[in-house]
Amino acid sequence: MKAIVLSGGKGTRLRPITHTGAKQLVPVANKPILWYGIEAIAQAGITDIGIVISPETGEEVKAKTGNGDRFGVNITYILQEQPAGLAHAVKVAQPFLGDSPFVMYLGDNLVQSELGLFLEQFQAKGLDALTLLCSVPNPSAFGVATIDDAGRVLQLVEKPKVPPSNLALVGIYFFSNRIHHSIASIQPSARGELEITDAIQHLIDEQKLVEASQIHGWWLDTGKKDDLLEANCIILDTCLAAENLGEVDDRSRISGRVQIGAGSRVVNCTIRGPVTIGRDCHLENCFIGPYSSIADQAVLVDADLEHSVLLQGAKVVGIHQRIVDSVIGQRAHLSMAPQRPKALRFMIGDDCHIELT
Ligand code: DAU
Repeated sequence: MKAIVLSGGKGTRLRPITHTGAKQLVPVANKPILWYGIEAIAQAGITDIGIVISPETGEEVKAKTGNGDRFGVNITYILQEQPAGLAHAVKVAQPFLGDSPFVMYLGDNLVQSELGLFLEQFQAKGLDALTLLCSVPNPSAFGVATIDDAGRVLQLVEKPKVPPSNLALVGIYFFSNRIHHSIASIQPSARGELEITDAIQHLIDEQKLVEASQIHGWWLDTGKKDDLLEANCIILDTCLAAENLGEVDDRSRISGRVQIGAGSRVVNCTIRGPVTIGRDCHLENCFIGPYSSIADQAVLVDADLEHSVLLQGAKVVGIHQRIVDSVIGQRAHLSMAPQRPKALRFMIGDDCHIELT
């Protein structure tokens, strides 16, 4: 059994954060989204993993993720020249996959369920495809499945205007090598992509064994800011252990589960967990409220923050209004004059969202 993790694509929905970087590397609780998928695959006992990358962000994904040693797996990088669809990514990965059955994991999905039981079901029943489904309130944003009482998939449609059910396709799929024949048999969709849903539909039309299992627990497709903040909350709630590897002075008050990375200094701050602070950060005269993730090398001085994500090297100085529900990009700077400002001065990139509420 092998695995491929899809980490190419365009990432338009998380702009401007993903103008300069891969959306799969955006951190949730200070860990790249992509790594959660790799860890889940490793935990299911699969050690041969191909990561599909794009020419734009591939080098960054490689540099950050490495050869797999940190996860106890072997990683092979597979370049997809164009984001021509999920089925196209499988086509590009075929030399790596050979005839092996495989799991395909979308690198921007976060799932609570473990993969082990689904893998067992796929193998024990000798399926050609096992898709995972989750009941959602907005199925039109996803691939949507119609299934019979036995869990067999009858029909799949990609982002239908009128969804035939509320069962969305989760971004984790198990396939036998028959999928390659189906991919070779389909045409690009109206949006110009080779759709994996069409390839699975082809398997169904050919009377192959295609089943679906519903996942329980949470599933997050981290495509948008609010999804990212929600993912951050859930991971901080469920996975964060308190740990202090930094320096905290005796005027600071820390309560709840708070993780502080090596080389970080906390001076005269109140921090209420769950909060994670990366390495080499400087926090002084701050209130940091629950559900905040602060990445490495961030600086916060005279600031008040809650339910927010700060990316690497971000700097917030002298903002006394509470910053809430915010995602602040890598190396972004926010500052305010000590006296009430008479004017606001901005240098804001394309697609940014600023709300002075
Ligand atoms: O998240 C689940 C949904 O994922 C499913 O319900 C849909 O059926 C499925 O088509 C997919 O829809 P998205 O529109 O969310 O896919 P997206 O374009 O965001 O791509 C998913 C991941 O795959 C993302 O990490 C980028 C990567 N990708 C995407 C394309 C189109 C590639 O590596 N190569 C590609 O060509």
